[in-house]
Amino acid sequence: MQTAPIDFAAFNALSDRDAQARISAARERLGSRAVILCHHYQRADVYAHADLTGDSLKLSRLASQSDAEFIVFCGVHFMAEVADILSRPEQISILPDLAAGCSMADMANRAKVERCWRELSTVFDPDATITPVTYINSSADLKAFCGEHGGIVCTSSNAPKILDWSFARREKVLFFPDQHLGRWSGYKMGIPLERMVLWNPDLPLGGLTPEEIREAKIILWHGYCSVHQMFNPGQIKRFREKHPDGKVISHPECSFEVCAQSDAVGSTETIIRVVKESPPGTRWLVGTELNLVERLAEEVKAESKIVQFMADMVCMCSTMQRIDPQHLAWTLENLAAGNVVNPIKVPEHEAKLAKIALERMLDAS
Ligand code: 13P
Ligand code: SF4
Repeated sequence: MQTAPIDFAAFNALSDRDAQARISAARERLGSRAVILCHHYQRADVYAHADLTGDSLKLSRLASQSDAEFIVFCGVHFMAEVADILSRPEQISILPDLAAGCSMADMANRAKVERCWRELSTVFDPDATITPVTYINSSADLKAFCGEHGGIVCTSSNAPKILDWSFARREKVLFFPDQHLGRWSGYKMGIPLERMVLWNPDLPLGGLTPEEIREAKIILWHGYCSVHQMFNPGQIKRFREKHPDGKVISHPECSFEVCAQSDAVGSTETIIRVVKESPPGTRWLVGTELNLVERLAEEVKAESKIVQFMADMVCMCSTMQRIDPQHLAWTLENLAAGNVVNPIKVPEHEAKLAKIALERMLDAS
């Protein structure tokens, strides 16, 4: 039975405890009609309600395999877009708070990437020379751009494989929006740092000379994650001085220097797996978002493993954090009452092209 949508104002003032109870009650009413997907950075009071968790690659696979009518995505906007693109047309992807964006994804947009493509065409024919690779942390229209121009999507867990796929087709790669993932992945496949140049989208020809562009193997977009840029080599140095037997693991969105000084680098799912599989008693310094690190520390503490956060200050994904129990309760109660709130619907033409780039990625990884 459909009623008028319940306004969020009625939920804003709910205590966390009441919100939790209402989430559980609404979930019971919805049963298998709704599935809750949570990214590893999600806050604990929301993560507790997850049916499925994962990194971006795992979550995009799970979204494409789910049978639920409603995919409630507790992550950020681009993740809910991917769920919409990869799910069946009758399924609905929902983001409990539309303000949950990704600041890195916002650092590239279609107009700027198209301008870059036009400017590159003054140096060579981009469609014959360079594969556009977008990190999954990007808007659907950039994935569509890649679908349209022989390009592909990558995530933090498959970027080296995707670069192999790309170089098998064209001699260069344009990698956006995260310079750090692009640089680290290129370096791991043996590309010298001087052959990876930085494209500043606010300068003519990216601030590069035609010669620098001709010499480059990878053109890296000037984008970064504001959370991961808080980690630095000094933090690793101090940890190693204090704990010479300790291990360091980082996310590839960290700077090149942080990745180079870590014992391991990997996606959120990889970080969790590597720490869980390490011998009892291992001490870890972890360079990724705080919610993940705190949860992991709790989960492995019974095996006497110590997990420490890399930065000295709090750094959370403040946008993902906006999905709080109040928004989840509001979303689920509306769904149970027959009202779909905050659906994420990518325009059909864009979704079709973006799906080409996403499916290339899923096939290649
Ligand atoms: P993962 O794919 O490793 O989960 O990373 C997503 C992300 O946004 C990291 O900041
Ligand atoms: Fe985006 Fe950074 Fe948040 Fe990941 S941690 S979703 S890259 S802002």
